[in-house]
Amino acid sequence: MDNTPETMETKSRNIYEKFQDWILAKKNRLSHQKVDRSWREEDEYYTFNIGGFSGGTKDRPEFSARYYYEISQLIDVISEYDISAERSLEIGSGYGRVSPWIGRHSSDHYGVEPNSKVRKKSQKLYPGITWTGDRLPDLEFEQESFDLVVTWTVLQHIPPSLIQESIEEIERVTTEDAVVLICEETVGDAGSHTWPRSVESYKEAFADFTLIDHKTRTVEPTYPEHAGEIMIFKR
Ligand SMILES: C[S@@+](CC[C@H](N)C(=O)[O-])C[C@H]1O[C@@H](n2cnc3c(N)ncnc32)[C@H](O)[C@@H]1O
Repeated sequence: MDNTPETMETKSRNIYEKFQDWILAKKNRLSHQKVDRSWREEDEYYTFNIGGFSGGTKDRPEFSARYYYEISQLIDVISEYDISAERSLEIGSGYGRVSPWIGRHSSDHYGVEPNSKVRKKSQKLYPGITWTGDRLPDLEFEQESFDLVVTWTVLQHIPPSLIQESIEEIERVTTEDAVVLICEETVGDAGSHTWPRSVESYKEAFADFTLIDHKTRTVEPTYPEHAGEIMIFKR
């Protein structure tokens, strides 16, 4: 057996490095588990966790990448369709991750979020936006209140028993020339809190609107699945 001090040092360095890899892998697994559990802790809402987001990215670099890709695409769609609003509404705004980017293209922007914990965050961070705690299918707004309505990964969490009513509620609060922009999961099996619906089924459900385009949602390249579609509807 070679027990020279140099060999012993190499051996212990190898063991140390393996141990470090093991700790890192364990930490990653734990952070995934923590993220995945959090939506259940939020009761019935599938929602964003403060500092991360449920069932989503596992660390800050991935979160930053997701944010970069999603916001770039949102800005591109807004610019391509020349979207600007007098009064706009984002339904299911979470802690306001996407909200200010929509608000930039509107004279008067509203965010609706039933989860008061995350809504309080957005209220503090974006005081120029009006926040309410409504919840689909019941919005406390008069009919034809908004010329732009956005849902970003929200309708996919509304159960089959409430989805048509929720879409009719969106139609009720929109003006005659409104744009509705939705970004939702479209493929895969239904889970305990997510119901992917095809573009075709959204097209049918938004009976008062015409689907003018749809694009695959772009997220970080390490995301393992299809991330859904952005759909643009006009009256
Ligand atoms: C996956 S999060 C998306 C949050 C935000 N749109 C974003 O992209 O950062 C889904 C959000 O929809 C909200 N939500 C769930 N059911 C809702 C309902 N029936 N009406 C309005 N919002 C709802 C949740 O509380 C949660 O904040």
